[in-house]
Amino acid sequence: METVAVIGTGLIGRAWAMVFARAGHPVRIFDAAPGAAGRALDLIRDALAETREFGLIEEDPATIVARITAAPTLEDAVRDADYVQENTSEREEVKREVFSRLDAAAKPDCILASSTSTIQTSRFASHLAGRHRCLVAHPVNPPHVVPIVELSPAPFTAPEVVERARVLHEKAGQVPILVRREVEGFILNRLQAALLIESWRLVDEGYVSVEDLDKTIRDGLGLRWAFMGPFETIDLNAPGGVADYAERYGPKLYGMMQGVTSRRWEGDLVEKVEGERRALLAGDRHAEREAWRDRRLMALVAHKRAMEKDER
Ligand SMILES: NC(=O)c1ccc[n+]([C@@H]2O[C@H](COP(=O)([O-])OP(=O)(O)OC[C@H]3O[C@@H](n4cnc5c(N)ncnc54)[C@H](O)[C@@H]3O)[C@@H](O)[C@H]2O)c1
Repeated sequence: METVAVIGTGLIGRAWAMVFARAGHPVRIFDAAPGAAGRALDLIRDALAETREFGLIEEDPATIVARITAAPTLEDAVRDADYVQENTSEREEVKREVFSRLDAAAKPDCILASSTSTIQTSRFASHLAGRHRCLVAHPVNPPHVVPIVELSPAPFTAPEVVERARVLHEKAGQVPILVRREVEGFILNRLQAALLIESWRLVDEGYVSVEDLDKTIRDGLGLRWAFMGPFETIDLNAPGGVADYAERYGPKLYGMMQGVTSRRWEGDLVEKVEGERRALLAGDRHAEREAWRDRRLMALVAHKRAMEKDER
């Protein structure tokens, strides 16, 4: 199994360490904050125990944790690595500096991937001699539960590096997609932004309440979205497939969204949406509901895995 280094052991780094260790990889972790990597091992042990309750891992958490070691320096963590997943602060100057150190310390054929949510590969790796082995591998929080990973190479990233990263993630149980050209927000956050902007507008202009809008997704569109995307949805929603759907509904849907603009999320608009949400969930119940969400998510992922196994 390839050796994986995880740099930065905050929320995302810890989850990646779990993903790679549960797939059988030796994992080296490093964090610049003193003691952070050691504390991460305890948090990882607890999180693995929770995922086991939902059947997402079969091995004993202690066996998985035993594959993870904390390294004293970044250079020690990456020296033997075949793949590095970087998860430090979301600041361009930090990424550039960390990638300079990674490129200097890692073996020549080691892949260097960043979890960054917003910074393109071209912006943090163009100055490096080894830029051909750099790319973004953007997860969704938490990647040990939500499997999508957006691979976003720069024009200078070698296709062979992208392919090796794709295979590694797939074998680790993730679902990699390829962002073919660099674009702000990659794919997932652009889709999320489009839906959110229209959601805020519909509430702002008095068409629907926050609660009813959420029901529309939760008990409507979202049910399908747990197992198919919008293109498969429309393909199945017209007897003649996508071309039929485009002809029947395209002009109406297209026309409906022409010239649509929305106000920024600030001032009285935020007060309105916040007020409606707080009436549904008191602020002091926020953490409890977050834990509920994470458990529901694990149960849903376990269900999807069982269904996929049955279908195979
Ligand atoms: N939180 C999310 O929902 C989410 C989702 C997808 C991607 N990401 C991306 O993942 C990355 C990490 O985010 P996070 O939420 O885990 O942040 P976090 O603040 O929880 O963790 C960052 C960790 O990096 C460490 N660190 C900072 N500078 C370092 C350096 N120079 N060397 C080594 N360690 C260093 C910090 O000590 C900290 O432990 C960011 O790039 C973020 O954009 C976050």
